[in-house]
Amino acid sequence: MSGFSAEWLALRESYDLRARNPIVLDAVATLFKSHDAISVIDLACGAGSTVRALSSHLPARQRWDLVDNDQRLLTLACSGKSTGDVRLNAIPLDISGNFEVVLDGTKDVITISALLDLVSENWLDRFTRHVASHALPVYAALTYDGRIDISPSDPLDEAITSAVNAHQRTDKGFGPALGPSAAAAAMSRLEALGYSVVHGNSDWVIGAADQEIQLELLAGWAAAASEIEALPRRDIDNWLARRKNEVGARASTMRVGHVDFLATPIATR
Ligand SMILES: C[S@@+](CC[C@H](N)C(=O)[O-])C[C@H]1O[C@@H](n2cnc3c(N)ncnc32)[C@H](O)[C@@H]1O
Repeated sequence: MSGFSAEWLALRESYDLRARNPIVLDAVATLFKSHDAISVIDLACGAGSTVRALSSHLPARQRWDLVDNDQRLLTLACSGKSTGDVRLNAIPLDISGNFEVVLDGTKDVITISALLDLVSENWLDRFTRHVASHALPVYAALTYDGRIDISPSDPLDEAITSAVNAHQRTDKGFGPALGPSAAAAAMSRLEALGYSVVHGNSDWVIGAADQEIQLELLAGWAAAASEIEALPRRDIDNWLARRKNEVGARASTMRVGHVDFLATPIATR
């Protein structure tokens, strides 16, 4: 499964849903509780998991502009069953370029999930300045923060995690990626631009019975480690084989660190 394939997004969705930080979700609900209707723009929407996760926390009348550069994912996002008065509008766009064009207009909140770790410092700078100039709240969920904890531990885990985190900082289409430092960088930039931020962890908690996602993650981490040539190929293969055995024996559990935040402009819009 590739990093953004519909199959991978479907596999991770239930883990994402359970992981979303409840305090941050409550803060989003509270921010809009007096609204009759809301207009949301979801950047890099994928197959629409944020719509499904957030809809029930928002006012009943919702318009979602769903932005992605993958037409297949956009079609899936818009074909999802929506309850009540929820309108979904697809916007095909490569947001590594002129994303500003879709943020102009009347929007109440920008949502992002599993995107910020892919973007560069320059892109984040442009994004935060632009949203601040429009005094737009930002709900950013599920940004990977560099923590990988696998039990039982293996002598090579630390080296693999370092290699994965180095790979996370390579270019993902936006210039050199912020990777594990993205959420902290975004929050501190937005605070400096006059936002208040509510944040909390949204770690994936993966049990011994969750073999499919464990095998996908392990394969992805091994591929990332070999791609940046941080370790001898044979060490990576041996690590992967040991890890797969643990998964097969239902002896392996994982926690993968993520961060959610809601940033709200302090000045009245
Ligand atoms: C990890 S997925 C997250 C999808 C969704 N937000 C979720 O939480 O399931 C990253 C998404 O970013 C989109 N993406 C990556 N680069 C993009 C770009 N340059 N412009 C628009 N979308 C992009 C991918 O197509 C994918 O849908």
